[in-house]
Amino acid sequence: MDVTHVLHMNGGIGKSSYANNSLLQKNGISLTKHIREEAIRSLYRSTLPSCLSIAELGCASGPNAFIVVSEIIKIVEKLCKEMNQKCPEYKVFMNDLPGNDFNNIFKSISSFKEKLSNEMKSQIGPCYFYGVPASFYGRIFPNQTLHFLHSSYSLHWLSKVPEGIENNKGNICMSITSPLNVLKAYYEQFQRDFSLFLKCRAEEVVEGGCMVLTFSGRRSENPYSNECCYIWEVMAKALNDMVLEGTIKEEKVDTFNIPIYNPSPSEVKLEVLKEGSFTINRLEVSEVKFESLLESEKGESFNDYGYNVAKCMRAIAEPMLINHFGKAITEELFYRYKEIFNDCMSKEETGIINVTMLLSRKPYARSI
Ligand SMILES: C[S@@+](CC[C@H](N)C(=O)[O-])C[C@H]1O[C@@H](n2cnc3c(N)ncnc32)[C@H](O)[C@@H]1O
Repeated sequence: MDVTHVLHMNGGIGKSSYANNSLLQKNGISLTKHIREEAIRSLYRSTLPSCLSIAELGCASGPNAFIVVSEIIKIVEKLCKEMNQKCPEYKVFMNDLPGNDFNNIFKSISSFKEKLSNEMKSQIGPCYFYGVPASFYGRIFPNQTLHFLHSSYSLHWLSKVPEGIENNKGNICMSITSPLNVLKAYYEQFQRDFSLFLKCRAEEVVEGGCMVLTFSGRRSENPYSNECCYIWEVMAKALNDMVLEGTIKEEKVDTFNIPIYNPSPSEVKLEVLKEGSFTINRLEVSEVKFESLLESEKGESFNDYGYNVAKCMRAIAEPMLINHFGKAITEELFYRYKEIFNDCMSKEETGIINVTMLLSRKPYARSI
């Protein structure tokens, strides 16, 4: 699978769009607000920038792309008043892969600014938006230009499906039945990708600048833990059931693997320490319960976890599934997903594990 070209969330604002099916992620982002608050207060006080550069990496499309930008501007504007400082200008960089629905983001910018000004009850400093359509596993910004980077639920996506996992039959990612070499290949791909990510950001972030990164990860050090790929294992089961009924060819499922790795806190920590350019200020684990999906933003309450999680998974995975299996299977697949998910949930309650870290850029080495 060519991740750069195939991976994107469902665009638009329709009923299967990421914009309308990302409440789980929104709830997860709210769990880490205290970390961002601490980071931006300390960053602003120590640097007092006249222009604050913020980047949202793996922004997708829809309301979640604006949550953190809005939080940051509110905090900074309040600090400026308290400190009697002129408000800075804001440069906001929205990054994702080129297939992302950037237009949807651009169309929302004016309503975002209006809503923010209304909530602040005052004009905010000038705020300029830029789209950055490229993989964050490479350089995407000029040297030393960014103050604050945020990324949620994006860095567990690998740059590619690891090589040498042809024997991961019947699975679509790491699973309890995956052979050991498959787990090793996924972990090594994660190490290569995350260390490259850190190396690139180390050039782009200003001294003292910071990054808040939330991975969909795991608590346990055991890579066979079912905290890991639970939501994907439900999809594997749905696909395998369709193989048994002859709707999908077995070979098609055997050759479908998702480029995802859910790291533990110690695995992310190890890569940061190895790369060496960032200080780890915080490393926390939290859990977004699937229950939190039952309170929809529109006040509708569907007492059906499976229905909500299946919609969320569809918004994330449909383009990738269509690319491999074709369009004909998706309705049936997500109907099955919902049924299987509800069955699993009646046996054990689970959620998504967040691994969040706050990193700050160490001083650059000075030449004498
Ligand atoms: C589940 S969405 C998360 C969106 C949003 N941050 C949120 O929390 O709701 C993951 C996003 O990461 C993006 N992504 C994955 N790999 C990427 C990469 N290498 N470079 C840039 N974006 C990437 C995907 O295209 C997708 O839009």
